[in-house]
Amino acid sequence: MLADRDPRRGAGAAQGTMVPVTAPAASAPQAGDVLELTVGEAVHGGWCVSRQDDTGQAVFVRHALPGERVRATVTQLTARFARAEATEILQAAADRVVPPCRYARPGGCGGCDWQHASLPAQRRLKAAVIRQQLQRIAGIDTTVVVAALDGGDDGLGWRTVVSFAVDQRGAAGLRRHRSHEIVPVDRCLIAHELVTSAGVTGQAWPGAQSVEVSVVPQTGEVGVLVTGRPAGMPEVAADSVQIAGSGPGRSLMRGRGHLTQRAAGRDWRVNLGGFWQVHPAAADTLARDVLAALDPQPGEHALDVYCGAGLFAGVLAQAVGPAGTVLAVERDAAAARDARHNLRDWPWVRVRRGDAAAVLAGTDLRGVSLVVLDPPRAGVARPVIDALGTGPRRIAYVSCDPATLARDLRLLLDGGWELTGLRGYDAFPMTHHVECLATLSRRASASAMTSRSPAGREALRGSGFAMDPPIANPLPRPSSADPGRRSL
Ligand SMILES: C[S@@+](CC[C@H](N)C(=O)[O-])C[C@H]1O[C@@H](n2cnc3c(N)ncnc32)[C@H](O)[C@@H]1O
Repeated sequence: MLADRDPRRGAGAAQGTMVPVTAPAASAPQAGDVLELTVGEAVHGGWCVSRQDDTGQAVFVRHALPGERVRATVTQLTARFARAEATEILQAAADRVVPPCRYARPGGCGGCDWQHASLPAQRRLKAAVIRQQLQRIAGIDTTVVVAALDGGDDGLGWRTVVSFAVDQRGAAGLRRHRSHEIVPVDRCLIAHELVTSAGVTGQAWPGAQSVEVSVVPQTGEVGVLVTGRPAGMPEVAADSVQIAGSGPGRSLMRGRGHLTQRAAGRDWRVNLGGFWQVHPAAADTLARDVLAALDPQPGEHALDVYCGAGLFAGVLAQAVGPAGTVLAVERDAAAARDARHNLRDWPWVRVRRGDAAAVLAGTDLRGVSLVVLDPPRAGVARPVIDALGTGPRRIAYVSCDPATLARDLRLLLDGGWELTGLRGYDAFPMTHHVECLATLSRRASASAMTSRSPAGREALRGSGFAMDPPIANPLPRPSSADPGRRSL
């Protein structure tokens, strides 16, 4: 715990760090130099961008907030910009708070990016970054709200999956920012208390590479997945323990090797290491809002691409009923098995295991009217977008990366779609990560409020998706030199 509780002072300042400004005037900075900077806007990745006073060189600064005057230590240089960490806060922003976690500081754990900002400020920063990415990459000018999820009062204790890295001595910790170095931690404050009580930290894991803890808050179930070749297995408070070595198989040490997650009023089997939303309220919220956005009707044909354990396919299956169909596509074999198990009550659902682009290339999509896209961070493969054409009437695109979302929205807009709803969710408090749900309708559709049932229209209004008129409002197309395309 920091001794200095003044919320307006940063971690470096709170520790009394006084660093001389060592960068020579009007020269390119070197790693280790300390620069005095006025901090500009937040950008994707948990940075704020700044310009060196004398050279004008771009400096991406962590642990800072827009509008602050800071001293920042340069950590890395590229040909075009520098990266730095704010080690002393000379003029603090009104949104600055003392980070609750002692590891969230310059040189500390790289997991949290915005612990030094109040939660409302974190959400405003995330909304600004989404807006900026859509403007710069997609040429779309729109505002977006990032909403808190249920249970997010202090932004702590929410994370239901934590992957601890193991150092050469066998200590479990978390990685430094942009580094393979591991910071030993006794506990992670954003982790759910069940993760902490599993007892992974503070134990020796020689030979292991990582130890991932996943938990189910509703039932208290805990799973531990160890990768590498652990020399022994410390005692952990877990229902399931599994080892994934270098080969394809896994050794089950205890329990069933999967968790039973609960969302949308049902149980979902998810293998250890399989994808499930990590905020306890996210799966329920997204299932509800995807349904409201698509407004499925009995007899419709739906596609759930990147389906994981089948959450969206399941809620769609119930809505379209036996007169409709759902095709769910998933590349990972274990996830596809989970999806088949989870969706077995609805024979009108088919799960196809394979790469989304390859599966869709060999599938007749005529008649498909509803699509869910929930890709990994890399976004939707272009052949998937091309395969969809403009046959469906609506797409719900769930994204955990505003940059790839923006790239894909540009492709979809160019391909005849319009953006009719966009919403952000603070599904990862304290970090720069944010979840988005974008709704698209075929451009020929009469209005964004095309729901055919009064109940569906009501649900759309209630969920904040009533965005009439459409927000396909292209700005001039960004050039390839646009800084929004820079990958940090
Ligand atoms: C963000 S998760 C979404 C899972 C699910 N929709 C949910 O909400 O639980 C993305 C899923 O896409 C799968 N995936 C990644 N690349 C894929 C590809 N090229 N083709 C098909 N599935 C892929 C991953 O295995 C993962 O299950």
